[in-house]
Amino acid sequence: MILVTGGAGFIGGNFVLDWLANPSAEGVVNLDKLTYAGNLATLQSLEKDARHIFVHGDIADCNLVLSLLNKYQIRAIINFAAESHVDRSIHGPADFIQTNVLATFNLLEASRTYWSELAQKNQQNFRFLHVSTDEVYGSLSSTARPFSEKNPYEPNSPYSASKAASDHLVRAWYHTYGLPVLTTNCSNNYGPYHFPEKLIPLVIMNALAGKSLPIYGDGQQIRDWLYVKDHCAAIRRVLENGKTGEVYNVGGWNEKSNLDVVNTICSILDELRPKTDGAPYAAQITYVKDRPGHDRRYAIDARKIEQDLGWRPSESFETGIRKTVQWYLDNQDWTEGVLSGAYRDWLKKQYS
Ligand code: NAD
Ligand code: TYD
Repeated sequence: MILVTGGAGFIGGNFVLDWLANPSAEGVVNLDKLTYAGNLATLQSLEKDARHIFVHGDIADCNLVLSLLNKYQIRAIINFAAESHVDRSIHGPADFIQTNVLATFNLLEASRTYWSELAQKNQQNFRFLHVSTDEVYGSLSSTARPFSEKNPYEPNSPYSASKAASDHLVRAWYHTYGLPVLTTNCSNNYGPYHFPEKLIPLVIMNALAGKSLPIYGDGQQIRDWLYVKDHCAAIRRVLENGKTGEVYNVGGWNEKSNLDVVNTICSILDELRPKTDGAPYAAQITYVKDRPGHDRRYAIDARKIEQDLGWRPSESFETGIRKTVQWYLDNQDWTEGVLSGAYRDWLKKQYS
């Protein structure tokens, strides 16, 4: 079996669903703390699937992790568990240090204890795949080359600094102890089951609710966007064929300004769900105060994973964003479940 951490979150949830969509796939032990970002509704379709074992717990809990590793004879760990939202890291960095740094350290230690006691063949086959972000490389000027795996780390937010710290720990556990690790650094994901604190789901849901569409600063910040299912495919590829100790940058070759992203969503909604008053959704765009320390541009050079492992994204931004908007229109139950009191409190704190 494999152990997925953070598998009730956005990317981890998509990963578990895609993994188990393959009838011959190994089972999944899914360890998740169910923070505000964890959502069991995402995993509802697996309720009767005996190959999915959900465990409510913290990756910081070494005893729990070690007992799961032993009980299920885990052959690979894919670590998605993290605090993931930059704006929340600005309001409250402590949770980010706790989970992304300290708890990742605990997870590495439990993994090392388990791995060091495995028989030699199982030791060789074991993998610890750490899922990280392109934000660890900092911010690019408009003319700079996209981030390659050789770029220096220059994290600028509490979120990216905590992820950078975890990447360094993972690297050290390989070099010092020989733990067979793999690290992926991916650009911005979007797609189904995305918590609506992030730009794309926030804009879709606010647009449909007739609310304003907040653009930080001038809206000319650039992100590279990757459809989440392409990211899941990249992780599977790295897990099976990646070279231990290596880092793979994962990206969509889709650099877009935030304003372009929001305008694209608005025009798809104009077509699929026109407003009764005939007004365009883009009329709801509102410019708001910029994020402190806002990184201007991220872009990924994903040639290494393509050349070494033969992975390329299958969705363009245009096809992926259309599927995403359609998914939110078709899955109002999921989105309504997310709009809890805690989520409303966050919106008030961030946007009022
Ligand atoms: P998310 O916030 O949607 O989900 C995180 C999940 O981890 C939640 O289910 C939460 O309950 C769980 N979790 C948090 N702390 C935990 C702990 N201590 N123990 C166990 N579970 C815990 O995040 P996401 O967007 O799915 O991101 C997953 C990973 O991918 C993160 O490591 C993130 O840094 C990385 N990443 C995200 C993006 C993106 O665009 N979302 C891009 C690149 C990399
Ligand atoms: P986000 O989805 O939070 O991802 P990240 O900060 O990890 O890149 O934000 C994507 C971009 O959209 C980022 O430049 C910030 C911007 N943004 C807005 O302009 N308005 C918003 O309400 C949000 C949430 C983000």
